[in-house]
Amino acid sequence: MDGKRGFSRRQFVGGAAAAIGYMGLKPTAELYAEDRFPFRRRLDDEYDALAHLSSNENPYGPSQKVMEAMEGAWKYSMRYGYPDGDIQAAIAEHHGVPEDHILMGAGSGEILRVVGLTYMDPGSKVIGVEPSYSTVYRHAAGLMAEAITLPLMEDHRQSIPLMIQTTKTHHREVGFVYLCTPNNPTGVSVTAAETKQLIDNIPQDVPILIDEAYHHFVEDPAYETSVPYVLDGRNVIIARTFSKIYGMAGLRLGYAIARPDIIRRMREYSTGTINALVKHGAAAALKDPEAEKWVFDTTLRLRKKAVADVEAMGFEVLPSETNFFMMHTGRPAAEVRNAFREKGVAVGRDFPPMLDWLRVSIGTEEEMERFMTGLKEIF
Ligand SMILES: Cc1ncc(COP(=O)(O)O)c(C=O)c1O
Repeated sequence: MDGKRGFSRRQFVGGAAAAIGYMGLKPTAELYAEDRFPFRRRLDDEYDALAHLSSNENPYGPSQKVMEAMEGAWKYSMRYGYPDGDIQAAIAEHHGVPEDHILMGAGSGEILRVVGLTYMDPGSKVIGVEPSYSTVYRHAAGLMAEAITLPLMEDHRQSIPLMIQTTKTHHREVGFVYLCTPNNPTGVSVTAAETKQLIDNIPQDVPILIDEAYHHFVEDPAYETSVPYVLDGRNVIIARTFSKIYGMAGLRLGYAIARPDIIRRMREYSTGTINALVKHGAAAALKDPEAEKWVFDTTLRLRKKAVADVEAMGFEVLPSETNFFMMHTGRPAAEVRNAFREKGVAVGRDFPPMLDWLRVSIGTEEEMERFMTGLKEIF
């Protein structure tokens, strides 16, 4: 998983020293402009001081209302069957589906894992594109199943006809099809018409896992969520997360939306390890659309500015519908990444076969300035 990528001690100390040095030049820099996100990073903390642009996190963290709800939930720390903020009902209501259509997990990462456990056996296959959120393909390997990874088209979009054709070819062995939209790491979304084409044209007994982790950042009117297909009784599982727009990656809550018979099968494999704080915090997050809008507006403003600046330097950038973008550096991503780390900026990782492209997550305004300064120095 992105968020678990570690730092080597050497890179960490070198990068943090550079970051602290940089911040020293700007002692008054306020990391967060708004009172509605009370969480503050400490500039004297090595980890906090790095510009975190490598894991598509939301740098502002939970909103004031979410923090208050979580504070109120500490009192359940020693309990098992405590009041849980009616989080399952809150999620179901948010999507207009009955409660039995929801399965929660410790992050949507657990949901992806549970889908693998439910639908894959040794020898079975998952079909999806590469690069995509490859955790799904790693699960397949762990289950002695196989990932059939299809290349992106020349414009870096996913080829729905190729997915359909491949699924038909391997029909009997296919455990499920994985569609990540918008896709990570490219940031490119699949249109509603293409998703419909996929759902309508693969064999109907093959489930499709549609990973909508970045749903909240999409502007393209041609994109739509696939949740309505669940209510139509289609064989789809939608994965969502509180890690991105709601800024709760470290707290771990994600969920699946699917038909109740699918949810029942999946439940056999889920751990149910969701903590009291995130249950209450997530219920509050769903009732805080102003904070969500602020994160959306701020993230997109900063992404558009960064993309324009990067393009002005002559780099090609893929059209992103997310809180990150991918740029063609023409140099090995590993090399560029190391150069950034020396400057206190954690950025990207390898996404084969796009090894000379760099994925850049959108951080705070101050972090993006450090990214641009670093980019100009490195290139
Ligand atoms: C496409 C996609 N799906 C799922 C996840 C897992 O997120 P989480 O387990 O925090 O919900 C990520 C995390 O980066 C992601 O990019």
